[in-house]
Parts: sequence; C-alpha cells; structure tokens
Amino acid sequence: MHSFHYQDGRLFCEETAMDELAARFGTPLYVYSRRTLLDHYRRLGAALAGLDHKICYAVKANSNLAVLNLLAREGAGFDIVSGGELFRVQRAGGEAGACTFAGVGKTAEEIGAALDAGIYCFNAESEAELEAIDAVARARGVMAPVALRVNPNVDAETHKYISTGKSENKFGIDFDRIEAAYERASKLANLELRGLQMHIGSQLTKVGPFEEAVRKVAPLAARLRDAYGIGFFSIGGGIGIIYQEALPSGRDDWWEGRPEGDGLLTLEAYAKRLVPLLKPLGMKILLEPGRMIAGNAGALVTRVLYTKKGTAKTFRIVDAGMGDLIRPALYQGHHEIVPVREPAGRGRVKADVVGPICETGDFFAQDVELPEMEDGDLLALMSAGAYGFVMASNYNSRPLPAEVLVDGDRADLVRARQSLEDLIAGERIPGEADAKA
Ligand code: LLP
Repeated sequence: MHSFHYQDGRLFCEETAMDELAARFGTPLYVYSRRTLLDHYRRLGAALAGLDHKICYAVKANSNLAVLNLLAREGAGFDIVSGGELFRVQRAGGEAGACTFAGVGKTAEEIGAALDAGIYCFNAESEAELEAIDAVARARGVMAPVALRVNPNVDAETHKYISTGKSENKFGIDFDRIEAAYERASKLANLELRGLQMHIGSQLTKVGPFEEAVRKVAPLAARLRDAYGIGFFSIGGGIGIIYQEALPSGRDDWWEGRPEGDGLLTLEAYAKRLVPLLKPLGMKILLEPGRMIAGNAGALVTRVLYTKKGTAKTFRIVDAGMGDLIRPALYQGHHEIVPVREPAGRGRVKADVVGPICETGDFFAQDVELPEMEDGDLLALMSAGAYGFVMASNYNSRPLPAEVLVDGDRADLVRARQSLEDLIAGERIPGEADAKA
C-alpha cells in the first residue's frame, strides 16, 4: 500500500501536500514516502517469515543516502554493483559485511576496495572474474568470499532490456557449465565458496517464471551445498509492481486484492510457491528486491510549462524530461500521470506529455487523457521511486532534480537540486586554471 492519495482534490504524500513541496523545493522534484519504503520492506519480510532469509536491497534502484540509511536501520543487507554503491552504503551507515557485490564487470580496484571493506560476498559472473578476484585477494593475503551467478535459461516474460536469465543475456554462468566453474573455483587458493546466486529479470508480473527458476536451480544449490559447503542461495530480485492505475485507489503492487490462481505475482503466491522449494535446502535464502521496495514509494513532480496545440495533437510541455526519468524512453515504461491538484469541473482532453529535451523520444505519455489544465499546473509521474533519479543524466546540460523524503507531515531535502556550477564541476579548459565564466 503506498502513501500517495488525494485529499480534497490535492495530491498528498503521507500527510504532506505535494503542491507545497513543489513550492518549497521547486520542480522537477522527486518525492519519496518513508512510510511506503518501510511498509514494502517489512511486508516482504513478513511474507517470508517462515524462511531463514535476508533481504539485500538492490541499491541500484534508488541509492539516495537517506533511503539506504532507512533500510540499514531496518536491518537490511544491500546488493551492490559498483565501488560507488559500496561507498554510498557505508556513508549511509550500512555495513559492508551486509553487502553482496554483483555485476559482470568489477574492476580490480573495486574488488580490492570491497575486500578491504570486508563485504559479505562477491557474486561472480564469469570464470575470468573468479581468477581476478583470486588474484586481488592473493596480493592482499586474504580469502575472498564468493558465490557464482548461475544463468538458469528461464524466460522471465518481461521487457527484453530487463530480462537477464536467458542464455543469450550477458549475465551469469550457463547452467550447464556452472558445476565445472565451481570445481575450478574450489582450486583457487584465495577463494572461499560461500553461496549460489541467480536473478532472472526485473519487473516480473507472474509467479511462474520465479517458480520455474527455483525448481530448476534448487537441486543444483543442494549439490553445491554438499560438495563445497556453501551456505546461501540468493534468488535475486525482480518482483514487479503495478504501474497502471496506481491512483486513486492506492493499490500499488501485485499482491493486493488479487485472486489467486491467475498466475499474477502476489507476495502471498511468491511465498507460497517458493518457500516449500527453498526451505528443505536448509540454506540461508537471500533476496535482492529493488523496485518492489522503492518503485511505488516515489513520484516525480513536474510543472506544465506550455501547452502547444498542433493540427494532430496537443502537447503539454513539462519541466521534467527523459534526463530526469528515462524509463518511458528506454523501456516504453508506463508511469501514470496525475494532476497534483484535481481541478474541479474541468473537462478531460487528450494530450502528449513531453519534456524539454531535444529528442523525439522525450515524452512521458502519448494521447493520454488528462484534465484540462493551465500552464503552471503541476503533474505527478507516479511509481518513479525506483530507477528514476538513479538513471538521471545531465543531457542538454540540465541540472539533476532535487529529492525529498516525506515522513508524515515533515519533508526533508535529501538531495539538493544541482546548481549550474555543479554542472561543470571537474571540467577544465586547457591552459586555464579553472573553467570560469
Ligand atoms: N539483483 C540483480 C542481480 C539485478 O541485476 C537487479 C536488477 C536486481 C537484483 C533488482 O531487481 P528489481 O527487484 O529491482 O527488479 N532500469 C530498469 C531495471 C533494471 C534492473 C537491473 N537489475 C528499469 O527501470 O526497469
């Protein structure tokens, strides 16, 4: 259940009115609900209460220090994919010892930093990487904890850009080669085999692919446990969220009020179908959810700058663009667009909601029905808490937006809007000491 709702025609995040946030912090503005973040984290834990498990939040989904700090204080672990994410977790008060380090291209510097920090485990994605980790550990005279990522060749039935568990994807080691890879890894003197990992894709909306993957990989986990004494099996992230109709019902996930048996991914179905397969392994089960925790905990508030009426279309040009939220442009991602003030008695008109960036792909929605609005009105792009700000760029030299964390009727600026000076920080004109205007 997320905490965005209308009250007397005004959109609120928890007990805070979003138009007030826009007035105070400007637009475009990312707004996150503390209550929703915690609720999602806790509900996943509750659904899996009968299982020895650990939730390692996928930092990539939303890596703001305030979000990480909140989850660290809840006892979450973290799934990181770079030295930068490790740095963030540590700065946010999280423990390196609660971090798993995934990703196909870890550099020697990142591996070294992770070893020095004492992370929980590397999730290695190739034989070559195992050798690199072993070499870095040997040079330091330490043992490196590793798990291998298996690619189970299961169709996650999601967008092709966020599908990871098929043989044609770059991720993990093929199912048919994984045992040979463990055998090789066991011969590398500075590796300590700790676990097995998989992740078949993101934004899954059916429970079937998860079940198929676990059914296929659990026997492998048991064999590896017996052969090498590995203690954990990470089943990855990927739990999808509802992007459609996030408002006004407050429904935000696949697990509320949905009938069982239609294959839709409810948390209950996820637990009911997976726990009986996982529990008999007697291993610690790791989960790496990102979107499920942060996605519907955030919205991007934007202001209508201009309305342009053409012969074919009406365009609402807003002050947020694909540089602020790239999901629609990159994955045809749908984000529900709602007015921050529901205008009473106004008709609805079809329009394209487009950003200011000089790209045809810079739109958030096409032919969407919205209340008639005036320039200066505010819109909210819902479900933008995951893979929103973290994927933002400075393209067109537009400063990154600000981020705010709401807690009841209180709102804290958790990342300041970039300044123009921030935009050119680090740049130099050869021969000049500083790039000054
Ligand atoms: N574990 C691994 C190894 C992953 O690669 C990912 C996501 C996750 C966990 C977390 O997945 P989640 O629970 O959030 O689905 N930018 C795309 C999503 C990319 C996901 C990449 N990996 C989007 O906006 O849809």
